[in-house]
This record gives sequence, C-alpha cells and structure tokens, in this order.
Amino acid sequence: MAKNKSVFICTNCGTEHSKWMGQCQGCKEWNTLIEEIQTKNKPDPRAWSGDSISSKPTKIDQVKHSTIERFPIQDIEFSRVLGGGIVPGSVTLVGGEPGIGKSTLLLQMALKFSGTVAYISGEESPSQIKLRAERIGAAESELFLLSETKTEAIFSHLKKLRPHLVIIDSIQTLHVPHVDSTPGSIAQIRESAGSFIRYAKETGTPVLLIGHINKEGSIAGPKILEHMVDIVLQFEGDPNLLYRILRAHKNRFGSTDEIGLYTMEQSGLLGVANPSDLLLTKQHDGLSGNAVAVLLEGIRPMLLELQALCSTAVYGTPQRSTTGFDTRRLNMLLAVLEKRCGFRLGQKDVFLNITGGLRVDDPALDLAVIASILSSNTDKPISQKFCFAGEVGLTGEVRPISKVEQRIREAEKLGFEKIYISGHHQIEKSHYNIAIVGLKRIEELVSAQF
Ligand code: TYD
Ligand code: MG
Repeated sequence: MAKNKSVFICTNCGTEHSKWMGQCQGCKEWNTLIEEIQTKNKPDPRAWSGDSISSKPTKIDQVKHSTIERFPIQDIEFSRVLGGGIVPGSVTLVGGEPGIGKSTLLLQMALKFSGTVAYISGEESPSQIKLRAERIGAAESELFLLSETKTEAIFSHLKKLRPHLVIIDSIQTLHVPHVDSTPGSIAQIRESAGSFIRYAKETGTPVLLIGHINKEGSIAGPKILEHMVDIVLQFEGDPNLLYRILRAHKNRFGSTDEIGLYTMEQSGLLGVANPSDLLLTKQHDGLSGNAVAVLLEGIRPMLLELQALCSTAVYGTPQRSTTGFDTRRLNMLLAVLEKRCGFRLGQKDVFLNITGGLRVDDPALDLAVIASILSSNTDKPISQKFCFAGEVGLTGEVRPISKVEQRIREAEKLGFEKIYISGHHQIEKSHYNIAIVGLKRIEELVSAQF
C-alpha cells in the first residue's frame, strides 16, 4: 500500500527535504522550497530503466576521436542555432512564452525531417496538430502523432515505432506513474525528463522537449532540468509583433552565440536570412528623431532603426517611455546629456522606440539613442545613410565596443555612407568603403553635422 508523504523540494537544485526550511541544504539558496505531496511506490519496471551494462571505463588516449555526426535539418535558422543539425542522443529543451510558436517551430521542423518522427503532445489532439500541419505545408517525413501523457505508455509506443527523432510537447504535461504528484510539479518534471534523457542516451535517439516558462521568464520546473539536458533554447519575442528570436542559452555541441530570426506568417514561421533588410524601413529621410544603430545579436551584426520623440512635458514629472530598450539606461543617457551637453531634458517627455519589436540590450546602441534624442530635440533629421555604434559612459565618453570591424562591414555592405564609432578603436579606415568617424566624447556628436 502506497503511503502519502509530504516532501519539500528545492525549485533551484531539486534537493528533497523532509520539513520546510528557509534555506535549501543542497544549494544554500533561500526561499526556494515548495511542498509536494508524494506517494512513492517502487519504480515501475515498465518505465525506461538505465540498467543495461554496456558501459566500461576507457582511458582518454584510447577514446576514438570522432567528429559528431548530425541529422541535417531543413530549417537553416534552427540548424545554425543548434550548431549544424541535431546530434544523435542529444536532449534539447525549447522554452518560451505561451503562444510564441514553440509547437509551430518544432512541428515545422518535424514535417521536413528525413526520417521517422514521433510527435507526442499532451496539449493538443492529433486532429488539432494535423490542422496546424496543413497550414504549414506538406509533410516530407514519416510523422507519427501521439496524444499521450503517461511516460510508460509513451515508451512502449517508442519501443515499437523506433523513431529517429522524438518531440515532446510539453514536458509539463508528462506523468510518471510511480511519482504521485500532479503533472507539471517539480518531481514529475524531474522524473520524466530524467527518463527521456536515459532513453535518448541509450538508444541514440535525439529528443526535443518543449518547456513552458514561468512569469519570471525561466523554464518552469527545477533549475536542475537545464543542467540535465544538452541544449537549452529560448524562443522569444512579443506575440503581438513580427519577430521571433531563437537563442541558445546552453549548447554542449556548439556555440551559444548564434541566433535564429523568424517572422510569424500565415503559413508558419519563416526564417529571416537578412535581418537588416527587414529592420530598416529606409523611408525616414527628412524626419527628425530617427537614427540607425549597428547592433550585434550573438555574432550576427544587424542594423535597426531607433525613433525618439522629445516634447515639452505637460505635467510636473516628465515621462520617459521606451519600447524594446531599458528605461533605466535611457534615464542614465539623458542624465549624461543634461550634465555634459547642457540639454535641459528635465522638462521634456522622452519616448524611445525600437522598430520591429526587438528587445535589445547591446550597449553599442547608446550612441544611436543619443543621436536620435538630439535629432528630435533640435528637429534636425539625420541622413538615412548614417549609422551609429558606440557605448556611452557616465562621464560622456564614447567607449569602444566588441567586434567593431564586423559591424562596420555590415553597414558598408548595406550601402551606408558614414558610421560613427568610438575614437578609441584602432581602425585602418582605408580598408573600408565607408566613412568612419571616431568620437571620443558625446559633445562631439552635438557639434557634428548630420
Ligand atoms: P503555437 O506554436 O501554438 O505557440 P506555443 O506552442 O509556443 O504556445 O502558436 C502560436 C501562435 O502562432 C498562434 O497563436 C497562432 C500563430 N500561428 C500563425 O500565425 N501562423 C501559423 O501558421 C501557425 C501554425 C500559428
Ligand atoms: Mg504549444
């Protein structure tokens, strides 16, 4: 007879405690314990078990060097983020807000996969998935849909089906029978993820897990889940806006610098090959308050437009409002402008907008932010052939930024005529087909003629 007991599990590291404590004994974090009612039976013998003894220790010099073979995937953006295809036996966790397009992304990939795919959904019925698949396009793979949440049933289907790729939508719906807490609880997520990781490693089948995120923005469940899997991807963007970014937070088989950029269309997600082309409207000539910044997303340089609006404050406290940019950073830049350049922005409302719905925290945007505010304040437009890339410090100095050559090349490629950067970079200006202006202080930007 199973016995109910209450355990307290740390949401950070997964350590179990028999009574509530303020501090986790495992990772020493505070206030991370939550209570879960559990019935522990014996582990289910039908669940996937890790008791095969095919392993043996090998000396490092006897380990055969092998380049990782990967299953190719058609989606260029996805493939690049993974480091070039899916590694056999790898477990990937894809997190993101509800409605951002996680199911669409993975279904789309599954439809084009060359091999047998098992798409297991605890959230949608096969007919719902079919409906979605019809919007996306024809299936080129052997795609099997399964609506199931019990891991033992899933494993018995997988043993018969022997797919080349397994997709689970989502890890929070899975239910391991021998742990008697509700699906989505820490213990359930840890157990079910653990059994799929063992399955992936023993059969060499890659597994993709979809994970919901909580309101803090991290993947719901124990933090340890992110340590257990090989790759953690985050799919982000504003559901109301056009762009979606796929980012790797952890990748055991590749770099975490690459990003994938998509737009959500009627027929699913479309990869964006040349982001700058889409992000620049190129129609703002003659209007003040616009500036183009060269930013780096991962290792990809791209240009995007900023719009600032300064107007006289009607109420006592002036408003500061931003879209896609940190408001505190804007306040800091305004304070620097006020102190170093004597602009009386304290009596002005300042609005800042990054077009395209991207959220950016590359400090290289600072110079373009200042330029757009100056332009709006003086009502003098900046030529649409000019762009900016530089960080601004508290004393008003323009500081150097990373990978500046790459950014200059991107601006040059897109036909810009002039780029403003920090004067502290050692750049051979004759190597480029674009005028390079080095600024040491923001005061120089004030006197520059746009
Ligand atoms: P979905 O993949 O279900 O998001 P998630 O699994 O992350 O919760 O889809 C998100 C939204 O995308 C959905 O609200 C409708 C929209 N959508 C399109 O605009 N075009 C399409 O072809 C599809 C399939 C979805
Ligand atoms: Mg979904």
